[in-house]
Amino acid sequence: MSTTKITPATVRADFNDPAAVAHYTRAAHFLGLWESERIMIQRLFTDSDAPLLEAGCGAGRVTLGLHQLGYRNITAFDFAAELVEQARSLLAERAPGANIRVLHADATRLSQTAGARAPARNAPDAGGHAGALFMFNGLMQIPGRENRRAALREIRAHCRAGAPLLFTTHDRENCTPAERILWRMEAERWAAGRQDPRLVEFGDRYFEDETGRTFMHLPTRAEILADLAATGWTHKHDALRSDIARESRPVRDFSDECRFWSAEAAATTASWV
Ligand SMILES: C[S@@+](CC[C@H](N)C(=O)[O-])C[C@H]1O[C@@H](n2cnc3c(N)ncnc32)[C@H](O)[C@@H]1O
Repeated sequence: MSTTKITPATVRADFNDPAAVAHYTRAAHFLGLWESERIMIQRLFTDSDAPLLEAGCGAGRVTLGLHQLGYRNITAFDFAAELVEQARSLLAERAPGANIRVLHADATRLSQTAGARAPARNAPDAGGHAGALFMFNGLMQIPGRENRRAALREIRAHCRAGAPLLFTTHDRENCTPAERILWRMEAERWAAGRQDPRLVEFGDRYFEDETGRTFMHLPTRAEILADLAATGWTHKHDALRSDIARESRPVRDFSDECRFWSAEAAATTASWV
């Protein structure tokens, strides 16, 4: 097994891999929004004309879902070029002429991407997008806590004060007794320096299945609360997906239980910029 640490470049290559591209493209074409996503999106983003920023859009599953819910001003981006291409082709086919921009951009360096700002015609509400999303655990696929914080800071910098942010994570604490035992064993491995050398932090997982290789950080609740506070976001609400909606069998086959988080862009202060 390789001992090279996982970097954002590893994750990008994994998402550009044909198995992953096929997996996310299929979901974008045939699965669509989860019921829990639909409920949370409509609860948080109440103005369908306001500019929305979608991070980690992949092949456009949520982007198309937003369009179908009536959102009319969407900027979506992903750092995996193959997925961006799939998203653009899906939207050209299913949402022709829609006011949707799909950019090739890295969430941790959004300021370096032309076009990531809210479109100019929204200039009167200066300060950017009226809401942001990072769905299906994409934020937790950024290796390294400082990198995840950089992404949260960059997204905040592209939103106006008061803008809602919606994202999901897995949950290291809300797990089965068997998983709890596995985490205890993992903690012992880290304490003894015997963990998978590719991992960056405790809570990371890196695994391979028929959909390709997946890096995922599983956070604690305290960790997310601290990361939001440190990056210009005020935590508003969090809930397990199963408490929001009962998902269909295809959605449950596609994705495990997760936690939905909502936060609000705090007024600009020196503490997080
Ligand atoms: C689990 S996939 C979800 C894709 C899509 N939102 C969906 O629900 O089908 C996570 C996405 O986040 C993207 N991603 C991860 N890190 C990123 C980063 N630093 N900047 C932009 N996109 C990133 C990946 O390329 C991938 O497309």
